[in-house]
Amino acid sequence: MKNKIKALLNEVDDFSAETKEQIEEFRINLLGSKGKLKSLFADFKNVPNDQKKEVGQLMNTLKEKAQHKIDELTIKFSNNETSTTDYLDLSRTATPIKLGSRHPITIVRNEITEIFSRIGFTVSEGPEVEDDWHNFSALNFPPEHPARDMQDTFFVESEAGEMALRTHTSSVQVRMMENNKPPIRTISPGRVYRNEAISARAHCFFHQVEGLYIAENVSFADLKQTLLYFAKEMFGEETKIRLRPSYFPFTEPSAEMDVSCSVCNSKGCTICKYTGFLEILGCGMVDPNVLGNCGIDPKKYSGFAFGMGVERIAMLKFKVNDLRLYSEGDVRFLDQFKAAF
Ligand code: DAH
Repeated sequence: MKNKIKALLNEVDDFSAETKEQIEEFRINLLGSKGKLKSLFADFKNVPNDQKKEVGQLMNTLKEKAQHKIDELTIKFSNNETSTTDYLDLSRTATPIKLGSRHPITIVRNEITEIFSRIGFTVSEGPEVEDDWHNFSALNFPPEHPARDMQDTFFVESEAGEMALRTHTSSVQVRMMENNKPPIRTISPGRVYRNEAISARAHCFFHQVEGLYIAENVSFADLKQTLLYFAKEMFGEETKIRLRPSYFPFTEPSAEMDVSCSVCNSKGCTICKYTGFLEILGCGMVDPNVLGNCGIDPKKYSGFAFGMGVERIAMLKFKVNDLRLYSEGDVRFLDQFKAAF
């Protein structure tokens, strides 16, 4: 009896199968209702009492080993099946394709361009690598102006001489005035670059939207009304604006515009630093020197210009307090804007 079991144990060890049918045959032969194990168990009653323990253990080992071998081979065959069979289940539910979302900067830029297009502004663009003329000189920056300093500007060596990554979208104003006759009414969205250390509040690149309106008899009142319209459309009907005198080389007079804080309804909060207002753009009447530099007669025409930071407006709209989030491409951040568009 012991020898019989040992022979079967060897048989189990040596067994390997080429097909699933062979495994099934092996199972029936050994573990089936008329199988060898069954007859061994039937013979067990004839085993002398002093050997019962040993023989019983051997029989259990044999049963376990046989079952283990069958399981092992069955798994091997089912794995092979999935990798080698070319089977396409057309009724299976499709794996969902993850949808992307618009970038918050794109959402805000589109909203700004849409608001201005409703009052007749076209959209214009210019190059990101600019010459000194379009970025600085034509815009009335004196030669020694600190904004040209290496601190602020990324310079680029090129065959055409020294170029720079534009530091503002005001360069597109110059190109528009050089290439078009008034009336000109355009906004220029785009990316700008500055040599700044990256932090929550500053970045070496960001986005601006420049605005320009040149025609006969354009006044500061037109500028004010245009900006009030924009602020109300962007932040809500109850929004108030405030213009503070400022200085830019390319506008005279110049101003900075604040909007009432929509976070606290102008009551004062950490976002508006308890002033009730937030600065969102620079603006002014285009300096007659700039009009002249761009081939427009300053005696006949006048105009206004403004420039705003898109990140700043997105920050107020979405209450994002770290500029770096906009360029890190973190899906956990970007996913949150699905509903915003
Ligand atoms: N270019 C300015 C800047 O980058 C923003 C600006 C201010 C644009 C006044 C204008 C303007 O057109 O009139 O800070």
